[in-house]
Amino acid sequence: MTIVNIDDMREAARSRLPKLFFDYIDGGSFGETTLAANRRDFDDLVLEQRVLASGRIPDLATTFFGIRHDLPFMLGPVGFLGLYRGRGEMLAARAAAAAGTGFCLSTFSIASIGSLAQAVTGELHFQLYMLDDRGLNEELLAAAAEARVATLFLTVDCTVTGIRERDVRNGFRSATRPTPAMLASMMMRPAWLVDLLRLGLPAVEALEKHPEFGRGALEQAASLSRRMDRTVSWDDVAWLRSRWPGKLVIKGILSRADAALARQAGADAIVVSNHGGRQLDGAPSTISVLPGIIDHVGRDFDVLVDGGIRRGADIVKAIALGASGVLLGRAYAFALAVGGEAGVAQAIDILRTEIAITLALMGLGSIDELKAAGSSVVRRVGGPT
Ligand SMILES: Cc1cc2nc3c(=O)[nH]c(=O)nc-3n(C[C@H](O)[C@H](O)[C@H](O)COP(=O)(O)O)c2cc1C
Repeated sequence: MTIVNIDDMREAARSRLPKLFFDYIDGGSFGETTLAANRRDFDDLVLEQRVLASGRIPDLATTFFGIRHDLPFMLGPVGFLGLYRGRGEMLAARAAAAAGTGFCLSTFSIASIGSLAQAVTGELHFQLYMLDDRGLNEELLAAAAEARVATLFLTVDCTVTGIRERDVRNGFRSATRPTPAMLASMMMRPAWLVDLLRLGLPAVEALEKHPEFGRGALEQAASLSRRMDRTVSWDDVAWLRSRWPGKLVIKGILSRADAALARQAGADAIVVSNHGGRQLDGAPSTISVLPGIIDHVGRDFDVLVDGGIRRGADIVKAIALGASGVLLGRAYAFALAVGGEAGVAQAIDILRTEIAITLALMGLGSIDELKAAGSSVVRRVGGPT
């Protein structure tokens, strides 16, 4: 099929991946209302068209986390990329580096941060989930510190996991080894299977010295989910702040009060996120709460956003509403499954082109001009003109 946009990428991923993996990536929690709201609320925003105003090719470079990026978006943390494509974490990180942007490795990854840092020269970030095994948290932090990680993301919206009903139906994440039904679904995707198995059975590299987490990615994933620290609190953020000298980003903020607490706790930035509609079903869309959070926390503080980004225009809307940058999730995970490094490069390219055309049709010459124009160039459908 011809892939023209990110929705096409999603459809191509559906044909390439076993159903249980496609559903794991695509799905949200419970009734998936927040998942749907993330998209719908972008569509409810309109941009201001200006004509005969700019003949320049828009400059997409901008600064977030104190780093100049060639693009206003980076690749956010997505668990188990190495199961959707062999060496998936490395391929995605390479595509990000080639495009002049960052990649954030999830705690839940096949590749370790150490081996990724050796294989890729670009900008790397590491996302930490606090586990109830403090020794392992320390080990992960030490590995991140050694691996020239630009910022540490602490994800705080996952102390309990929302039930993703598609995963329950597929028997995924409760199983510690493939069931006959899972094996049958994998056999139906031979291209995916051959790609993955040529590297041997996947396992979580960071857990090599931790046989208590089990063997093989499936069992390790189930153990990791069980070992998330449910009691994690702002005191732990203070501990992490004192322990991590580099930049600290808190991901998973949806309320003004929590944004202020994150800033008080010494975070350098936050990501407004509802985990892509995978956690609290009924939570508001991220784009709907973004402006209020920025007003509350102050414009001199880095606020990024993710959730439902499928179009360049979504990125333009988020930045007009005050985001310093945007994180991709599913948009690049699907592309990775479809085409590996080239697939992610293609997804990045699609978004880059869409952003450039959107800015040009708005009469804007750069992302920095868009940031300066701010909310004057975006409004709700039916809102005052
Ligand atoms: C399959 C999948 C796995 C994810 N794993 C993680 C993770 O390990 N750590 C994390 O902080 N966020 C994780 N997320 C959330 C993403 O970082 C991001 O918040 C979300 O995907 C944004 O929504 P979008 O996919 O609609 O763009 C995951 C999301 C998906 C779809």
